[in-house]
Amino acid sequence: MAAGKGTRMKSDLPKVLHPVCGRPMLNYVLDAVKAAGSLKQYVVVGHQADHVTRILPDTSQAVEQKKLLGTADAVKTALKQLPSNSGDILITCGDTPLLTAKTLKALVKSHRQTGASCTILTSVVEDSTGYGRVVRGIDGDPVVIREERDANPDERRILEINTGVYCFKASSLRKAIADVKMNVRKKEYYLTDVVEIMAARRWKIAAYETEDPSEGWGVNDKIALARCGEVIRYRILEDLMRSGVSIVDPCTTFISADVRIGANTVIKPFTVIEDDVRIGKECQIGPFAHVRPGVRIGDRTEIGNFTEISRSSVGKDCFMKHFSFLGDARVGSRVNIGAGAVTANFDGKDKHQTRVGDDAFVGSDAILVAPARVGKKSVVGAGCVMAGKKDVPAGKVMVGVPGRVLDKKKTQDT
Ligand code: UD1
Ligand code: CA
Repeated sequence: MAAGKGTRMKSDLPKVLHPVCGRPMLNYVLDAVKAAGSLKQYVVVGHQADHVTRILPDTSQAVEQKKLLGTADAVKTALKQLPSNSGDILITCGDTPLLTAKTLKALVKSHRQTGASCTILTSVVEDSTGYGRVVRGIDGDPVVIREERDANPDERRILEINTGVYCFKASSLRKAIADVKMNVRKKEYYLTDVVEIMAARRWKIAAYETEDPSEGWGVNDKIALARCGEVIRYRILEDLMRSGVSIVDPCTTFISADVRIGANTVIKPFTVIEDDVRIGKECQIGPFAHVRPGVRIGDRTEIGNFTEISRSSVGKDCFMKHFSFLGDARVGSRVNIGAGAVTANFDGKDKHQTRVGDDAFVGSDAILVAPARVGKKSVVGAGCVMAGKKDVPAGKVMVGVPGRVLDKKKTQDT
C-alpha cells in the first residue's frame, strides 16, 4: 500500500518516495518482500501515481487506487488484479522501511503453521502513540485492531501495535473485506476492521510479534523518518564492516545504501558518501570528506580532509589529501591533487569536464578551469590557473596565471 499522500510529512514528495540513506523508503519494503520469497508484488499507487510507479522494480506491478478511501479500499483495488485462487496474501505498508525479509518469512511460516485466516505482524513498543493497538481476547488471540482516534483510554495504554503487515488466506480476506464499513470519523475504509469481522465469525486470527520492535516502526512524519534513517544507517555501516571496511567512527559516518567499498579501506570520521559510489580496496577516505553521487575511486587512493568529489572518477594510487574539489573530472592513476587544488567545472551556465592523465601532478592551489586537459606525467604548478581551454601536453609543465606551458629547457630546470 503506497497510495497515500503522507500529509504529516508536509512535503510535495509522496511519502513513500522520501529517501532513507539515499533510497526511497518504498524500495526497502519491496526488497524485504522480494527477499522473503515473493515472486510478484502489487503496489497500490494513488497520490502522484506516475512518480511512484517510475521507481518500481521489474517484479512489481503498480495498481492504481483512484480515490484514497483508506487501507481496505487500497487492498480491494489490488485484489481485483490477483487471480482468485491465490493462496496466501502478504500485505505491507509502503512506509515501514525497517521490515526485514527474515521477519516476513517467519510471519508467513507461522501463518501457515497455525492455519489462521489472518496473522497480524505486531510489535511491542515503548510508545504506541499513533498506531493501531492490538486488542486480544480471552483466549489470547487478537479480536480487534483499534485505531488511536477510536480507542478508549484502556486501549490506548496497549503497547502491542499493528505494524500494518498481515498475512491472509486470500479467500477469507476477500469475504471479510467486502463487509468493511466506512469509518465515520475518518471517512475511510480501514483494513484493520477485517480483524473484528473475522473474529465475529470465529475465524482464527493469530499474531506474530517481531523480535526487534523497531522493525514495526512506521514513518508518518519527518521525526520518524530520521529515526528509521538512523537504524538503516547503522545496518549499512555494519554490513560494510562485516565485509572488511574499517569505519573509525560510525556515529559521524554517513554512507548511502547502494555504495560499494573494497576491503581494508578506512573511512575516517565525519565522512559523507552518497548514492551509487564505488570505492576500491585499501583506500583512506576522510576525515571530513564528501563523496557525492556516482563517484568512482580506485584502489589505494587517499582522499583526505575537507575534500569534495562530485560526478568524477579517480584512479588507483592517487592522493588528494587536503581541501580540494573535483567536479566532472576523470582523473587517472598515480595522480597527486595538491592541497587546495580545484576544478572550476561550472561556468555559471553549464558544467564542463576535466581530464587528468596518469602520473600527473597538480600543484597546491591550482585551478583547472574546465574544460581542461592535463596530460600524462605533466605538472601543473602551484597556484597556476589553467584558463582559456589551454591544455597541458603530456610530460610538460604549466605555471602562472593564466597558465603557460614552459618550454623544454625550462621544464628540465624545474
Ligand atoms: C496504519 C494502520 C494502523 C497501523 C499503522 C502501521 C489502518 C487503518 N491503520 O495506520 O493500524 O498501526 O498503519 O504503520 O490501516 N494507503 C493507501 N491508500 C489509502 C490509504 C493509505 O495505499 O487510501 C497506504 C499509505 O500510503 C501507507 C499505508 O497505506 O503506506 C498506511 O497508511 P497510513 O495513512 O500511513 O496509515 P496509519 O495511520 O499509519
Ligand atoms: Ca503509516
